[in-house]
Amino acid sequence: MAPRTNGVGIRPEETRICVVMVGLPARGKSYIAQKAQRYLKWLSIPAATFNVGNYRRNDAPHPSADFFDTNNAEGERKRRAAAEAAVADMMKWFRSGGVVGILDATNSTKERRKWVLDRINQEGVDVIFVESKCDEEELIMANIRDVKTTSPDYQGQDPEQAALDFRNRIRNYEKVYKTINADGDEDHLTYLKIMNVGRQVIINRIQDYLQSRIVYYLMNLHIRPRSVWLSRHGESMLNLEGRIGGDADLSHRGEEYALKLPELVLESSDRPLTVWTSTLKRTIATARHLPKHYNQLQWKALDELDAGVCDGMTYQEIADMYPEDFQARDEDKYNYRYRGGESYRDVVIRLEPIIMELERSEDILIISHQAVIRCIYAYFMQKTQEESPWVPVPLHTLMKLTPRAYGTEVQIYKAEVKAVSTWRGKGSTAKHEDPKPEGGI
Ligand code: ATP
Ligand code: F6P
Repeated sequence: MAPRTNGVGIRPEETRICVVMVGLPARGKSYIAQKAQRYLKWLSIPAATFNVGNYRRNDAPHPSADFFDTNNAEGERKRRAAAEAAVADMMKWFRSGGVVGILDATNSTKERRKWVLDRINQEGVDVIFVESKCDEEELIMANIRDVKTTSPDYQGQDPEQAALDFRNRIRNYEKVYKTINADGDEDHLTYLKIMNVGRQVIINRIQDYLQSRIVYYLMNLHIRPRSVWLSRHGESMLNLEGRIGGDADLSHRGEEYALKLPELVLESSDRPLTVWTSTLKRTIATARHLPKHYNQLQWKALDELDAGVCDGMTYQEIADMYPEDFQARDEDKYNYRYRGGESYRDVVIRLEPIIMELERSEDILIISHQAVIRCIYAYFMQKTQEESPWVPVPLHTLMKLTPRAYGTEVQIYKAEVKAVSTWRGKGSTAKHEDPKPEGGI
C-alpha cells in the first residue's frame, strides 16, 4: 500500500515537530502561534497549541507583576509546574497522532530552552524555536492596550492599572531574557528569529520540508491593517441552467452585477485594491468595470473545482448517470474527487500559494468561484472540512474579511441584483435551492 501522505508532502506517522515560541510578553507570540495552527489545520496537518499561561491560570488566575519576578520562589515554582503540565499534555497529544505541537510561552532564558529541548527530544520529537523580538515601544504599547488589558489575568480590573502592571511584568522578564544564541552557545538549535515583525529574520539549521514550509509561512506574516474581499463572478449562463463547471459568459443579471461591483467596492474601501481573478471568462468579465488603476492578475489556481467527467452537467444528470458517485460525494464532500477532476481537498492544496501570497499582501479583492471561495473562507474563518464544502456563498454578494488580533471580522455587501441560487443541500438534485438558514454568510 502506498504510504499515507495527506496530499501535502508529509507522512504524519513519521513527522513530529514541536514549535517552541520564544520572546518577551506582548511580542505577538500567541498571534503567531494561532496563525500557524490555523494554516496547518487548513492543510489537514494535525496541529495544536499548548499555552502555558492557560495552565498557569489554574494555579494563579490573577497574578500581579511580582509573581513574574525570578526572586519570587513561589512564582517560579508555579510557572515551572505550568510549563511541565503543558509539555506533558503535548506529549500525550503527539502519541495520539499529533504532528505539529506549538508550545506558547516566553521560554526566555537559555536554561528554560535547554530543559524544553531535552524534554521534547527525549520523546523523539524535533524542536524548532520561533522567537519574536521587538523593540518598537509604540507597537508594544499598542499590543498591551489591544489584547493584554482584556486578558483573563486582569478580569474586572481597570485597564489603565492593568496596562501598568503588564509593563512591570515585562520588566521582570527583561531582567533574565536572553535572545536565542546571544552568547553564541545555542548555535546547535533549529530556530527562526523574527525581528520587528519581519523587518529582519534569522534562520538557523532548518531541516526538513515541513519545517521550511512553516518557516516560510511565518516569515511572510505582517500586521499592517488590511482586508481581503471575496466575490463570486456574476451569474453565468450555466448557473441559470443549474449546470456546473464550464466556461460560460455572464447572464444579463451577471453583467448588471459586474457594473455594480465598483460601487460596492468603493462603499467598502477608500484604498485602491489589487484584483485577482481566475482564468475563466466569467470572473474576468466580472472584474472588467473596476477602476483602471486597480492592478489585475489572473491565477489558474483560482479556477473553479474541476468536475472532471461531470463538467457541464446538472446535479440531476450526475445522480442519474453516476448514482454511486453522487452519494459518495454527499457522504464525504471534502474528500470526494470527481472522476477525472478534483476534490475540495485538492483545491485547498492548489490554493496554498494563494494563501501564502495573501499573507504577504495588503488589500486584495478575489473574484473567483463557489468552491474556491469556500476554501479561502474556511482558512480565514477556521471552518472544518465537514462544514466548508456546504457553506452558502450567494452570487452578487461582496464579502470583506478583516483579520484582527484573534479572529477575522466579516462584512457583507449585497448588490441587490437578483441571481439564482447554486447552493445544493445534501441529497438534493434541485437546480436552484435556497440555502438552509444556519451557517450561512
Ligand atoms: P504573552 O507572553 O503575554 O502571552 P504574546 O507575545 O503572546 O504575549 P500576543 O498576545 O500574541 O503576545 O500579542 C498580540 C498582539 O501582537 C497583536 O495585537 C498582534 O497584532 C501583535 N503582533 C503580531 N505579530 C507580532 C510581531 N511579530 N511582533 C510584535 N507584535 C506582533
Ligand atoms: O454551480 C456553480 C459551481 O461553481 C460549479 O461550477 C461547481 O462545480 C460548484 O458550484 C461547486 O459547488 P458544490 O461543490 O456545492 O457542487
